[in-house]
Amino acid sequence: MKQEDYLILESSGPVRIPQRYLNHEGQIRMGSPYSERDFHGPSELLTIDKDQDVEVLVKDGPRWTRVVHAHHPFDVLGWDGFIYPFTFNAQDFEPITGTVHQPPPIHQTFEIRGYVVCTFAPRMLDYHPEAVKIPWVHDNVEADEVLFYVRGNFGSRKGIEAGSITLHPRGIPHGPHPGTIMASKEAQRTEELAVMFDTQHTLELTEQAVALDDEKYPLSWLD
Ligand SMILES: [Fe+2]
Repeated sequence: MKQEDYLILESSGPVRIPQRYLNHEGQIRMGSPYSERDFHGPSELLTIDKDQDVEVLVKDGPRWTRVVHAHHPFDVLGWDGFIYPFTFNAQDFEPITGTVHQPPPIHQTFEIRGYVVCTFAPRMLDYHPEAVKIPWVHDNVEADEVLFYVRGNFGSRKGIEAGSITLHPRGIPHGPHPGTIMASKEAQRTEELAVMFDTQHTLELTEQAVALDDEKYPLSWLD
């Protein structure tokens, strides 16, 4: 993966913390995979004080509007309000592990209108002596599943590398690649870091995405 590879997700609604991570007061429960301390707002102002025309593109759903300001909008003394940027580092995601394989929702990070975001962080693998340490064969019947592989060794998959993106459309059964169940028996940890988003609606590929398609990927399950 190159330094400049980014996965950028947009949404038409707020980025929410899953309800089950919150207590009645709206605080993040202990035992959730992250806490309030893991969110970081802006720490310093980037002030740009320029009296010249500055174009701002406003994106609102499928509509774009170009607004021309007489001066740079970053000419401010501070910021306040309910909408502001924040960061969450996937490496701060505290993985939940078990004696046997835990279901995908334990990786959930955010819920957003139309999709969820999950983090597969470096973690201990299942520790029952008989555990099958990689995901079972499954069929996501209600979601399209997209994975962005950031780094590490992806124990249950072949044919991908850091920077790969896979799309498993709903209704198509998939699971560990041949040989990976036995290969995982001795493993105790995975250092993989991957981000997954599962979408409520079926995804459509752009021409650019189709151009990136690796036709060999669906065949990578054949031994
Ligand atoms: Fe899947």
